[in-house]
Amino acid sequence: MNIISPKSRSLPESIEETIQLLAKEDYLCDRQLATTLFLSLRLARPIFLEGEPGVGKTELAKSLAKALGTELFRIQCYEGLDVAQSAYEWNVAKQMVEIRLAESSSDLKDPQTRKNVGDNLYSREMLIERPLLQSLTQSHSPVLLIDELDRADEPFDAFLLEILAENQMTIPEFGLIRATSRPITIITSNRTREIHDALKRRCLYHWLDFPTLERELEIIHLRAPGIPLELYHQVVAFVQEARKLNLYKPPGIAETIDWTQALAILNTIRLSPDTVNSTLGVLLKNQEDINRLQAGDTIKLLTELVIKGYLPDPEKEIISLDQKVQSLQSKKDQL
Ligand SMILES: Nc1ncnc2c1ncn2[C@@H]1O[C@H](COP(=O)(O)OP(=O)(O)OP(=O)(O)O)[C@@H](O)[C@H]1O
Ligand SMILES: [Mg+2]
Repeated sequence: MNIISPKSRSLPESIEETIQLLAKEDYLCDRQLATTLFLSLRLARPIFLEGEPGVGKTELAKSLAKALGTELFRIQCYEGLDVAQSAYEWNVAKQMVEIRLAESSSDLKDPQTRKNVGDNLYSREMLIERPLLQSLTQSHSPVLLIDELDRADEPFDAFLLEILAENQMTIPEFGLIRATSRPITIITSNRTREIHDALKRRCLYHWLDFPTLERELEIIHLRAPGIPLELYHQVVAFVQEARKLNLYKPPGIAETIDWTQALAILNTIRLSPDTVNSTLGVLLKNQEDINRLQAGDTIKLLTELVIKGYLPDPEKEIISLDQKVQSLQSKKDQL
């Protein structure tokens, strides 16, 4: 088994250290995710992350690369992604120049000269390295992020198997390229299609869920600093309640951050039906969901926040305001 000593690459030596390492880059992860990541580093196995949009899948790879002080190679997957864009390409222009030079300066009728020219055309210098190949040729282990693999076509899963299992790539015209330092690979998916079992078997799997209220509060604090404490609580409590509504597109952490910042720009101190409904486009990205909240669910959610103590009860506020007015009135009368 290919087990990596933590000392060999200043990798974290425990789950606790893994949590701290990421926290230095403002990435907060729970013990379960930290355990999967720690084991993936120690066992030298890729990590396969699935989860809702905006819950921190891509950010994990970015933060890990920063925390380890290592290079990040990223492949953003899409339909039609192929080897030429993800792994390598032959430099056709350079090959043409080479052929012209050979034609003008050597005797191409000689079989040996022809063989030499042919070999040269498919040498390492003629390769244009794309992120997958680049990640195998670094002197220090980089982080390789294969982002949103579910968007790529299924044959791409099969193409990745050799790299994930053996840390090597076979280039038919050239031969084998083995990793000089094994990349730390993170694959993400939004589950729009099933990823091939053979690929999943080579990885450690983790489902990244929406964070708890307490964790989301901490994240928003870090990622959208300088906002009144009261607002953080209201926003996060509202978002947490909204996720229970079974929306088409529940808001991710990214949307909570955006919404908090938007509300702060509008000098909001307290959530009201008007402020919520007029800024829903920052939080939700589906018109049916927005309509649903505007048609009544916003009020329901705000009422829930009052019941749970995140928002003051407006009726009690009116009563206490009335009491204040009355006492002022009676003081005035006494004078
Ligand atoms: N655990 C976390 N700690 C700190 N910030 C986080 C965390 N999770 C998410 N974030 C914040 O949320 C933002 C969105 O996260 P990210 O882009 O990684 O989501 P994603 O899961 O990759 O979404 P998608 O599936 O849409 O690509 C990040 O830029 C970061 O600011
Ligand atoms: Mg992402």
